[in-house]
Amino acid sequence: MNRFERKTMKPLQTISNLNDFMTEPVSFLQEVASEGPIKVSYLGPKRFIFIFDADLAHEVLVKKAPIYIQNRTVFDRIKPVTGKRGLVQLEGKDSQMARATSRPMFSTNSLESARAIVEKYCDEMLVETAASSNFDVTEKMTYLILRTTLAILLGMETTELVDQMGKKFLRLNYLCGLRMRSLAPAPLFIPTSRNREIKQLQSEIRNLIKHQLVLVKVRGVAEAFRGDDALVDHCMTFLFAGHETTAASIAFALLLLAKNPSYQDTVARGNNEAVEAIYKESLRLFPPAYMLAREAKKDDIIGGVNIRKSDQVIIGISSLHKNPLYFDEPEKFYPERFLQKLKHPFCFIPFGAGGKSCVGERLAYMEAVIILKKICQRYHLSAVSESILYDPLITLHPLPEQLIQLRERKS
Ligand code: HEM
Repeated sequence: MNRFERKTMKPLQTISNLNDFMTEPVSFLQEVASEGPIKVSYLGPKRFIFIFDADLAHEVLVKKAPIYIQNRTVFDRIKPVTGKRGLVQLEGKDSQMARATSRPMFSTNSLESARAIVEKYCDEMLVETAASSNFDVTEKMTYLILRTTLAILLGMETTELVDQMGKKFLRLNYLCGLRMRSLAPAPLFIPTSRNREIKQLQSEIRNLIKHQLVLVKVRGVAEAFRGDDALVDHCMTFLFAGHETTAASIAFALLLLAKNPSYQDTVARGNNEAVEAIYKESLRLFPPAYMLAREAKKDDIIGGVNIRKSDQVIIGISSLHKNPLYFDEPEKFYPERFLQKLKHPFCFIPFGAGGKSCVGERLAYMEAVIILKKICQRYHLSAVSESILYDPLITLHPLPEQLIQLRERKS
């Protein structure tokens, strides 16, 4: 090795690692996970700690949560979709208070009214869906969950408003997803054409939300956070957190069911526990939140590794869920594994864990069970193509135009 190579190798390698992480995060995490439960790596100028072990995930997310705060690089990039002061951006006492305030939105009574909305919109979608047609799962679930989420959280039911809001919101999500995956996105105050579009969309969506809040003061986020001056930010956060994740998870479950037809009868006729096991297996294989990003507030030791203040700590959920220590034949679609006790309470964490875990988990399960059941009760699903194509932007979601064929059930 000559002097020039010695000098340049490390920076080149770290930039190429960073590039791989940004462009192919799920494959990158899988590759790094094969090297052990915790891995220290430089990506560009920053030190990253990757965690693929359930005990260590528990330590970071729960036991030592005050040390491992939301990763500012990641969370700043998604501010246009979450608002600056929405729950997902908050830490400590502010976060605890906002979480407590949001609790009534997911009470048994609220979930019962949400159930009626999900059932109604799912029935409407099925009426419009012709049997044997090629059913674009991503497109259909994105629209269905958008309608239900806007109705449940904001009382927004007018089709034109939903369409208007939907288009803007999806585009904003997409642009922020590109920012997440970009090596060095231009700061928002620089008026690039993309930044201008982000700002324009953000302002239009906020205005639509404000307009809606004037009309409907008694539902979902509006009711829970009444009087809070960050109300519009909370609305943005709940729409963002509740929409793409849920739509993606149900679309993945349908694609997996189409490839594994023997489970469709269980969904159509089985009890909720059996349907939830199928949904969980799909969340295990395709977790919409495929990684959680934290940042060390001070020096610490995790799994024998010295962690330094400002280290970026990544819990690689997609790889944790495929760790053979916890799941036999991890690549196999085998929902029965969720009818038994898991090998570790933190080996399956699609909704996160600890003080910043998902507040909408019960709603997500409810929506998924209703929609999967209704579709499978009416149709047999068959896969048009062998593989399931996905794209990890802010969340892991299936690519559009993945079709499944629907055949009317006889009985
Ligand atoms: C399958 C569907 C869903 C998945 C996989 C999911 C996943 C997650 C995960 C992993 C987190 C924690 C993020 C972190 O620790 O950094 C989270 C937080 C959150 N989720 Fe969900 N979520 C889903 C559905 C929902 C729904 C339906 C809602 C509400 C309508 C919702 C609202 C939220 C909110 C507000 C937070 C932020 C909590 C906080 O920061 O304190 N999510 N979600």
